[in-house]
Amino acid sequence: MLNNPDIKAGTNVLCVIGHPIEHSMSPIMHNAALKDLYLDYIYLAFDVPPKDLEKTVFGFKKHDIKGINTTIPHKERIMQYLDQIDPLAEKIGAVNTVKNVNGRLIGKNTDAFGAKKALIDAGCKIKGKKVLVLGAGGAARAISFSLSEEINEIYISNRTEKRAIELAKDLNDKMKITAIGKNSSKEMLKSLINEVDILINTTPVGMYPGVSKTPISKELLTNHLFVYDIIYNPLQTQFLKDASEIGCKTLNGLDMFINQGALAFEWWTDRTPNIKLMKKKIVEILGKI
Ligand SMILES: NC(=O)c1ccc[n+]([C@@H]2O[C@H](COP(=O)([O-])OP(=O)(O)OC[C@H]3O[C@@H](n4cnc5c(N)ncnc54)[C@H](OP(=O)(O)O)[C@@H]3O)[C@@H](O)[C@H]2O)c1
Repeated sequence: MLNNPDIKAGTNVLCVIGHPIEHSMSPIMHNAALKDLYLDYIYLAFDVPPKDLEKTVFGFKKHDIKGINTTIPHKERIMQYLDQIDPLAEKIGAVNTVKNVNGRLIGKNTDAFGAKKALIDAGCKIKGKKVLVLGAGGAARAISFSLSEEINEIYISNRTEKRAIELAKDLNDKMKITAIGKNSSKEMLKSLINEVDILINTTPVGMYPGVSKTPISKELLTNHLFVYDIIYNPLQTQFLKDASEIGCKTLNGLDMFINQGALAFEWWTDRTPNIKLMKKKIVEILGKI
C-alpha cells in the first residue's frame, strides 16, 4: 500500500484567494483529489483583502506557487498582474484559474467551461436556443460568453440595468450575437420569460443563509423552461424547488463547481482527478451545513 507523500520542502503548493475565504470548498475538493492520486501537492486557502492583491500575486510568483484559483472579489483585478491571459478569459474579463509556468503567470476562466459542460451533461440542448441570464456579475459574464459560442440570442436581466446593458454590448461586439440587457422588474421578467428556452440564475439570491429567497416569483415560471441555478449551497434552492414543482427540468450549481475545479486540476497537474470523489466530498460538507 502506497502512502500519500508527506508535506516537505519541495511539496508543490496550489491555493485559492478571496475575501472572505473561510467558507471556500475548493481546498476540500482539491486536496481529496490530490491525495487520491498520491500527488506531491497541497491546496491552501488565503484570505487576501483587495489592497494586498498585487503584492500577494508577486509573492506567489517569486515563491513558485504552482496554481491559483481566484474568487470574489479578485477575478477581474488579478488580470492586470498576469503575464498571459487565455483569449476567452480576456473576452469575459475575468480569470478564476492561474498557472505558474516557469515564473510566468497564465490566466484562464474555467467557470465558463464548467457551466456549459454541466448544462450539456444534464441533457440541456443549447444550440440555437434563447437564454435569459439573471445577473450581470462575474459568473453571468463567464456563462453568457461560453453559451454565446452555441446560441444566437441572449437576454441579460439585472438589478442594476446599466451593468446588464454593458454585458449585452460586450456580447454583441465580441461574440457577434443578439444580446439585450434589461432591468429585473416583475413586468420585464414576465415578458422575457415567454421569449426564452433556458433560464439561468447567476445572482446570489437564495444562497445560504438566505435560503427562502428566490430571484423570480413562482407564478412567472412556465414548464417549457430549463431552469439552471448556479448556486450549490443549498443544492436545491427555492428557485429550483418552484421550477421543478411546475414541471421544469432543473440543474443546480454543483456540477459547474466540480467541472471548473477539475479543469483547473488537470491544467496544473497534467492528471485527471477523480470527479466522483470531489463531488462526494462537497456533498458531505453541504450535508453538514
Ligand atoms: N457554481 C459555481 O461554480 C459558481 C461559480 C461562480 C459563482 N457562483 C455563484 O454565483 C453567484 C454570483 O457570483 P458572481 O461572482 O457573479 O458575483 P458578482 O460578480 O458579485 O455578481 C453578482 C450579481 O448578482 C446581482 N445581485 C447581487 N445581490 C442581488 C440581490 N439581492 N438581488 C438581485 N440581484 C443581486 C448583482 O447585481 P448588481 O449588478 O445590481 O449588483 C450582480 O449582477 C454567487 O452566488 C456565487 O456563489 C457559483
